[in-house]
Amino acid sequence: MSNPTNLRHEKTVLIRPEFLNHGGTLFGGYMMQWADDMAYNAASLAFPGAIFVTKLFGQFDFKSPVAAGDIIKIFSEVESVGTTSCKILVWALNARSNAEVFRTFAVMVNVRDGRKTPLNR
Ligand SMILES: CC(C)(COP(=O)(O)OP(=O)(O)OC[C@H]1O[C@@H](n2cnc3c(N)ncnc32)[C@H](O)[C@@H]1OP(=O)(O)O)[C@@H](O)C(=O)NCCC(=O)NCCS
Repeated sequence: MSNPTNLRHEKTVLIRPEFLNHGGTLFGGYMMQWADDMAYNAASLAFPGAIFVTKLFGQFDFKSPVAAGDIIKIFSEVESVGTTSCKILVWALNARSNAEVFRTFAVMVNVRDGRKTPLNR
C-alpha cells in the first residue's frame, strides 16, 4: 500500500483573464493562495485526523511570468515530518514550456483548540 506521506499532489490551472494583474501577467496572490491550498491538501491527506494551519511559508521567488492562456501545474508533497508539524514542498511549472514559476515550502502545524498538537504517525 502506498504511504500517503510520499504522495505527490498536482493541480492544473488554466490562467484566465480574471487572474491577471494590471500589467497583464498573473497576480502573485492567486498563486500564493493555490500554493497554500496545495500545502494544506498534502498535509491533510497524509494525516487524515489532523487539523492543519499554515505556520510559515518559505520565500516566493516568481522566476518566470505567467500569462493569460497559460496552463500551470502546481505540485506539493510532504518532505519531512516533525512532532506537531510537517514540511511541505510546493512548486509550479508552466505546463507548455516547463519553465519553473516558483519553488518553496510550507510548515503546516496540527492544532486542537488553537494549540499545537502531536501528529499521529
Ligand atoms: C500554529 C501555532 C499554534 C504554533 O504554536 P507555537 O507555540 O508558535 O509553536 P512552535 O513555535 O513550537 O511551532 C510549532 C511547529 O512549527 C515548527 N516551526 C515553527 N517555526 C518554524 C520555522 N521557522 N521553521 C520550521 N519549522 C518551524 C516547530 O518546529 C514546530 O514543529 P514540531 O513540533 O514538528 O517541531 C501558532 O503559531 C498559531 O496559531 N499561528 C497562527 C496560524 C494561523 O492562523 N495560520 C493561518 C494563516 S493566518
